[in-house]
Amino acid sequence: MSRLMTQPQIIHTISELRRRVASWRNGGARIGMVPTMGALHAGHLSLVEQVAAQADKVVISIFVNPTQFAPHEDFDSYPRTLEEDRAKLTTGKADLIFAPSVSEMYPNGHATTLTVGGPSEGLETDFRPHFFGGVATVVAKLLIAAMPDIAIFGEKDYQQLLVIRRMAQDLALPTEIAGAAIVREPDGLALSSRNAYLSTNERRVAGQLNVVLKDVIARLHGGMDISEAKITGKNALLNAGFDSVDYVAIRNAENLKPLGTLTGAARILAAAKIGKTRLIDNMPV
Ligand code: PAF
Repeated sequence: MSRLMTQPQIIHTISELRRRVASWRNGGARIGMVPTMGALHAGHLSLVEQVAAQADKVVISIFVNPTQFAPHEDFDSYPRTLEEDRAKLTTGKADLIFAPSVSEMYPNGHATTLTVGGPSEGLETDFRPHFFGGVATVVAKLLIAAMPDIAIFGEKDYQQLLVIRRMAQDLALPTEIAGAAIVREPDGLALSSRNAYLSTNERRVAGQLNVVLKDVIARLHGGMDISEAKITGKNALLNAGFDSVDYVAIRNAENLKPLGTLTGAARILAAAKIGKTRLIDNMPV
């Protein structure tokens, strides 16, 4: 199906989204969705490309979701750049931008929050206990509103991807949840909208996160045990200039259960802070 090489239209309401998607579906289109919080970078654009390769029509949502931020976090300062975001979507791969207001997504009297167990236990939840409830709730609302055949999420938020997959499975949503490989800068730093907060010196330190993870993976393959590898990784991040390390963890790649020894598919995941910026990254072991 051909797409016009123009910027996609922006709509703001769930009823309009439902109307547009219904008319595409009546025409036999397979629908793809890319949920985002905006401040689009090459990682998001690659999600759009990948889902467009598997769908006839693509809707990208741009919504800075208040329920996944704690009061002390960066909800107010999170970049909101809707017009710039729209200008980046010129390849014709995104057909529609859904950019609802907070009151559209959370009208007065909103009293429902989803709690997902399983993969949400530990890691991010130990440091951001509000996070996955907010993510699962907003993503469920977005998927129920658009009912896409496929929705795609970046592996940079690996735990989030598994939580969303579990939520969609448990609610029997008819949407395939696809994951996409992390897009990285030349020095290996995973692309993130929050990288924009980094000063020049912090940016240099940030580039060490992926280097340390690769080094820990090499040590694990060299026979280092998991508990020692976690400590080695944490110390290496502090030595590289990170101010604090929330975790360096080696987990089962499918369910994120802790591993005593390196068996089956494993994933290394880390979260660390430089100044006020918190960065996460992960890799297959
Ligand atoms: O990864 C994100 O950008 C957000 O957590 C998501 C999935 C769009 C939900 O707000």
